[in-house]
Amino acid sequence: MDQLKPKEIVDELDKYIIGQNNAKRFVAIALRNRWRRQQVDEEFRDEIAPKNIILIGPTGVGKTEIARRLSKLTDSPFNKVEASKFTEVGYVGRDVESMIRDLLELTVTTLKSREQTRVQAKAGQIAEERMLDLLLPKPQPVTKTEAASAEALQPAAPPTETAASTREKLRTMLRTGKLDSRYVDLDTQDRNVPVVEIFSNVGMEEMGINFKDMFGGLFPKNVKRRKVKVPEAMEILTQEETQNLVDLDKVVKQAVQKVEQSGIIFLDEIDKIVGSDGKHGPDVSREGVQRDLLPIVEGSTITTKYGPVKTDHILFVASGAFHVCKPSDLIPELQGRFPLRVELGALGKEEFIRILTEPKNALLLQYIALLRTEGVEVEFEEDAVVEIAALAEQVNNTTDNIGARRLHTLMERLMEDILFDAPDVDHKKIIIDKAFVCRKLADIIEDQDLSRYIL
Ligand SMILES: Nc1ncnc2c1ncn2[C@@H]1O[C@H](COP(=O)(O)OP(=O)(O)OP(=O)(O)O)[C@@H](O)[C@H]1O
Ligand SMILES: [Mg+2]
Repeated sequence: MDQLKPKEIVDELDKYIIGQNNAKRFVAIALRNRWRRQQVDEEFRDEIAPKNIILIGPTGVGKTEIARRLSKLTDSPFNKVEASKFTEVGYVGRDVESMIRDLLELTVTTLKSREQTRVQAKAGQIAEERMLDLLLPKPQPVTKTEAASAEALQPAAPPTETAASTREKLRTMLRTGKLDSRYVDLDTQDRNVPVVEIFSNVGMEEMGINFKDMFGGLFPKNVKRRKVKVPEAMEILTQEETQNLVDLDKVVKQAVQKVEQSGIIFLDEIDKIVGSDGKHGPDVSREGVQRDLLPIVEGSTITTKYGPVKTDHILFVASGAFHVCKPSDLIPELQGRFPLRVELGALGKEEFIRILTEPKNALLLQYIALLRTEGVEVEFEEDAVVEIAALAEQVNNTTDNIGARRLHTLMERLMEDILFDAPDVDHKKIIIDKAFVCRKLADIIEDQDLSRYIL
């Protein structure tokens, strides 16, 4: 779906996120630019660097939500990471390069499963043939026991019938499930890798080495003959064949190509790696993370277990609340790597009303759906919704402004009794009006200290 036009991307985002039009426009443009770059002549294509974006806005206004929705919209490899979980190389934690490895790993997995789906039908066919071979061994010198079990499985066919037609008969029986209760002998591969816990993967990760893969090959494959029921055997065989049909090298190559050309990394909470003074204590490490980030954002080659990956054309979208620090507190080199800045506005009553009702996953719809499972129909009257929104704004103003998250705490309070009693209530229809909202929430709202704790 990479071909979505910017306007279409914004329209899609509109289904889930209220307002924040500027931010939506910027990410839509950036996304479309990926596609445009692919269309440019090859020589020039490499010259076009992505324009990285920082989304700036107070907490709870939809920054992470935009990223989450974006990832579903685009077919590009997409990885959302919290900048705060990284630490400088040498410190305890994940090293920054792992985000590229994760992105590649994700892409390989997606492409592999896509490829597996593609060859499914073919694999099924081959598996069926193999199954028929098992059920009806070709006349070969066989050992005694095998002969006995094969004989037991063979349907009593008149001696005049050829092997071929027996096979077709068996095939029909197999397909119609008439053989489901039979057993066959199946050689299954049982690779026994001793379980060894490696404490820290960090150093190894750096080199792109995965212990399991490394040692997996060292231990002999354990071929075991088991008796399994036909349906299970079919499944095992299909799986084996699917694996054989998927060309892993090709998948990896494609994945690397995709990551390099159209990968997107969403760096959430980037303000958390800004040190307040940049001098003492943990700040050393935070600034270190920024320095480690720099080459990746700037374009470098990362070693992964699938081979080197260039990061030159990966798009970075960063986001942060920046309420204790400013983007200008980032180290200058990094600031320059994020030329586009978009501000997301604080949310007020009008937005809250829409957030409660409009998005596809709107909060009110969630409660309605949850309670419907108990046979309870709830209905929110319009002025009740207005009241909830107004209260949310009020609490945000008087205590901390936590944006749309305030709606979650308020709603939970409001619905508490209904959620608790739902299985036992007599009235299966509950109408929530303004009076109900006031009654439930008024006390708490009035008492500021109380609302600090509860809402
Ligand atoms: N503009 C919006 N439209 C719809 N829902 C929103 C909007 N803003 C926030 N929300 C809802 O509020 C919650 C918090 O939003 P989100 O996670 O995007 O916050 P954030 O901006 O990333 O904040 P933080 O800086 O704390 O990470 C989410 O459940 C989201 O659905
Ligand atoms: Mg967030």
